[in-house]
Amino acid sequence: MARTNNDPAIVVTGGNRGIGFEICRQLVARGVQVVLTARKRAAGEAAVKKLAGGKHAAAFHPLDVTDGKSIERLSEFLKETYGHIDVLINNAGIIAEGEAPALKVDLATVRETLETNALGPLHLAQKLVPLLKRGSSPRIVNMSSGMGALTDNYGGHAAYGCRRRCSTQSPRSWRRSSPARSR
Ligand SMILES: NC(=O)c1ccc[n+]([C@@H]2O[C@H](COP(=O)([O-])OP(=O)(O)OC[C@H]3O[C@@H](n4cnc5c(N)ncnc54)[C@H](OP(=O)(O)O)[C@@H]3O)[C@@H](O)[C@H]2O)c1
Repeated sequence: MARTNNDPAIVVTGGNRGIGFEICRQLVARGVQVVLTARKRAAGEAAVKKLAGGKHAAAFHPLDVTDGKSIERLSEFLKETYGHIDVLINNAGIIAEGEAPALKVDLATVRETLETNALGPLHLAQKLVPLLKRGSSPRIVNMSSGMGALTDNYGGHAAYGCRRRCSTQSPRSWRRSSPARSR
């Protein structure tokens, strides 16, 4: 599939609210083609409406980062529509309701957090690398947090911190396995 145009195309996960929405807003204001993804269609479409008026309208596509089929559908959409992407911003994330310090947190909370915050972004990156390789300056941006730091980490949200250490430390290993840059 050839590139359909030469403008940069940027995919943002969890773009319907919070930091993800603000990233989309600023990119659209700079004239970038943004694919705003969200797990709930209504929320994603409402967010895209708020962004109308730039050089490119933001596009919406559903994405639940914990759902392999959803990732597959997004990948097909991007291939058909753009033929490439330039940046993947792995922004979506949760702090699960059951959060607690490490020796108290239940494993279901840790699993849920890792599925959403670590394995989902990794799976998505793996699927989108072929499209990133067609981009002019490919990058993967993983949101991290002070809670993932090895120092200055207050330790109250053990599952979240565990995941964020994955985000903080994954760029080096991701970079070694792909020409796409990972930050
Ligand atoms: N806020 C901070 O101070 C801070 C600091 C450091 C790092 N971060 C990181 O920055 C990112 C954004 O933070 P935020 O404060 O903007 O969070 P937020 O307001 O809670 O928004 C989280 C976003 O992730 C989406 N999401 C959750 N689970 C998902 C899934 N399975 N598939 C797809 N999307 C999913 C949410 O969708 P729904 O609307 O459907 O729930 C929402 O769009 C997170 O990764 C967070 O860990 C935040």
